[in-house]
Amino acid sequence: MTQKVPIAIIGATGYTGQELLRLLAGHPFVDVILATSETYSGKTLGEVCPHLEAFASLKLESLNPDILAKKASFAFSCLPHQSAMKTIPLLIEKGTKVVDLSADFRFNSATTYATWYADSDGPSRHHASHLLAESVYGLPELHRQKIKKSFLVGNPGCYPTAILLALIPLVQKQDVSLNDIICDAKSGASGAGRKASLDLSFCEINESMHPYNPTTHRHTGEIEQELSQLADKEIHVTFVPHLIPIDRGILATCYLTPLRKYSDKDLQRLYAEFYKKEPFVRVNPSGITPKTKNVRGTNICEIGITINPRTEKIIVMSAIDNLTKGASGQAIQNMNLMHGWEETTGLP
Ligand SMILES: NC(=O)c1ccc[n+]([C@@H]2O[C@H](COP(=O)([O-])OP(=O)(O)OC[C@H]3O[C@@H](n4cnc5c(N)ncnc54)[C@H](OP(=O)(O)O)[C@@H]3O)[C@@H](O)[C@H]2O)c1
Repeated sequence: MTQKVPIAIIGATGYTGQELLRLLAGHPFVDVILATSETYSGKTLGEVCPHLEAFASLKLESLNPDILAKKASFAFSCLPHQSAMKTIPLLIEKGTKVVDLSADFRFNSATTYATWYADSDGPSRHHASHLLAESVYGLPELHRQKIKKSFLVGNPGCYPTAILLALIPLVQKQDVSLNDIICDAKSGASGAGRKASLDLSFCEINESMHPYNPTTHRHTGEIEQELSQLADKEIHVTFVPHLIPIDRGILATCYLTPLRKYSDKDLQRLYAEFYKKEPFVRVNPSGITPKTKNVRGTNICEIGITINPRTEKIIVMSAIDNLTKGASGQAIQNMNLMHGWEETTGLP
């Protein structure tokens, strides 16, 4: 390829924006020509994020969708939910393809979005619901063919990426009970973004761990949407997230009840076979549990699987880096698919 594709990053100074820039420095087919920030507009990336040396001279600009769409044929949106849905339709209208890292285009239905993304004033209205029928849930391991043809991808949440990859092979087979799936997951603090908050300050989280939103976490909605679609019946899961004192990484441990006899060997074979062609899913050999350190900074999801013969519960464990496979790495994987490039291009 001679001409590089001009791309933009909206919200470039946040954690996922910075991670995109870190990874894109090594991407051979794209040229980051525009990076937006409201807080740091006018400064160079070198001044704000000195570690992003490859982009040190790129000046941050305030977001102007008209200018962006004229300059860039593709954009990553790293804005918070609700802000993304106000900007992205303007870009799509002008022909700029988008991978959105927020939750705004992950749902098939505006009602489901409104339920899970309600705030203290009640359900959240979706301002671009006309695009929900067209946007594709960006988990390549599930929707690769649709992503290839798409102009708008709703990049999955970090917890759902780890949990769905752990559950898909067994749920698709449907020889586990679909009524009592339990997902216990832990995340590092970067999962909440870079904005300052008391709950996320060092002394609040260091040397401490706690569950949060044990019955209402927003990511439950997209986990259930994708599993229900896969099984063709409504599935509800018990999902309990925990905040742990690391900066990046997610570890999910999921418990399922088998409806047939499974041995460790059967499970190992099922998962190894299911993911054998997936470049970013690594199924560990029997007895090896996944670790966040094994995947840090990579786009890999590491999976371990076993069965407890005494309680007859299947235990599937998965580890990802929330900022890479759980956000920016997966977003690049999706961009590659949308452009017909090798899916692994530019990804460690
Ligand atoms: N962190 C994760 O692990 C993770 C994983 C998956 C998905 N996500 C999702 O990805 C998106 C970005 O997450 P993040 O962790 O990168 O968040 P973040 O660190 O808080 O960064 C958000 C970025 O958006 C800009 N911004 C905020 N409000 C804006 C507004 N109203 N208009 C224009 N720009 C605005 C901020 O920068 P300025 O102040 O410089 O403008 C910043 O660059 C969120 O929707 C998040 O839910 C995050």
